[in-house]
Amino acid sequence: MSYKVRFVDPGKNYRMIQAEIDAAYREVMEKGDLILRGQLKRFEENLAAFVGTKFAVGLNSGYDALHISMIIAGIKPGDEVIVPAHTFLATASAVVNAGGTPVLVDVAKDYNIDVSRIEEKINTRTKAIIPVHLNGRPANMEKVMALAKKHKLVVVEDACQSLGAAFQGKKVGSFGLTGCWSFYPFKILGGYGDGGAITTNDQEAVRMATLLRYNGEDRETGEYYYHGFTCLLDNLQAAFLEVKLRHLPRWIDRRRAIAARYQAGLSGIPALILPHFPDPRMEEVFQNYVIRTPRRDALFEHLKAAGVETLIHWRKPYYAHQALGMDGQRFAETGSISREVISLPMNVEMSDEEVDYVIQSVRSFFRAQGSKLKGQSSKLMIS
Ligand SMILES: Cc1ncc(COP(=O)(O)O)c(C=O)c1O
Repeated sequence: MSYKVRFVDPGKNYRMIQAEIDAAYREVMEKGDLILRGQLKRFEENLAAFVGTKFAVGLNSGYDALHISMIIAGIKPGDEVIVPAHTFLATASAVVNAGGTPVLVDVAKDYNIDVSRIEEKINTRTKAIIPVHLNGRPANMEKVMALAKKHKLVVVEDACQSLGAAFQGKKVGSFGLTGCWSFYPFKILGGYGDGGAITTNDQEAVRMATLLRYNGEDRETGEYYYHGFTCLLDNLQAAFLEVKLRHLPRWIDRRRAIAARYQAGLSGIPALILPHFPDPRMEEVFQNYVIRTPRRDALFEHLKAAGVETLIHWRKPYYAHQALGMDGQRFAETGSISREVISLPMNVEMSDEEVDYVIQSVRSFFRAQGSKLKGQSSKLMIS
């Protein structure tokens, strides 16, 4: 179907910066610089500078960043790793594919890991914790780092949804052994295909990630050090991401402005929870604008009919998928989130008029619901 307001619009985004992207493309293609060349190195340096770490290593996806981080952290069979129950499956898959066991912790009302419930899951097998900075909001890193210190755990940050966000003035992705990034097209910094990276201050993590992404091979000597993977960030994608990284501070401002416009336009609807959980320690970047209502499924259909494209992250918690063998667990907050959340369009391509159209469409849904309810109660009174 053709939407009036797209969830994201990569074509429109390309047209906004077309001259720069086309120039980057020509530079790479004319020289044939496709694998591990200057553009990748430059992007890694600038990404590290943006996040505030010494190093970054470009990889093929956010998943690869997490998986390689688990290997760097030394996770092996028998080890447990704390992860949130409400996240993208890749967070837990990285643990499983490294041989470890994910131990799930429910999230709090702000959709991030409930730090008051982590300690009860820690035992002698616990080796690491992966806080996820979901929807562009930092997890409580003060608490996570304190617990990690107390119990000698490695922290690997899943920052795939939060490039540019900060906790107490420090950017996420710079707290743990590694910060893991995704450049999937829908992300704040989205490439034209898959992409990812780790950021770190640890030279050994850089050494391992650089070898592991290239089948374990030291390119200088040809010596193999690991059974590794083919998962480096392509030079062409790095060149595109480098262009987009220059626009990122302005784009983050725009996201915040859109979030503020949604907040002003959608406040005061009783059955609707907006994603504003004021905390002066958090600088958010609004990767997703997630609203919450018990009438979510009807709202989804209403918005679709009105031509507003929305997404639901996620209709069924990952641990509830039978084939993964993690079912049988119950997490109250994650369970109700999966029934109640819906993400509104949030992208820097949107005009204010489009944001207003989304607001009107949401409001018209709740107006209609309100009059239905009134109608029902007057019928009840008559009968
Ligand atoms: C929280 C989270 N973790 C991990 C990933 C995995 O990233 P990718 O899709 O680049 O593998 C994503 C992105 O989809 C994500 O949102």
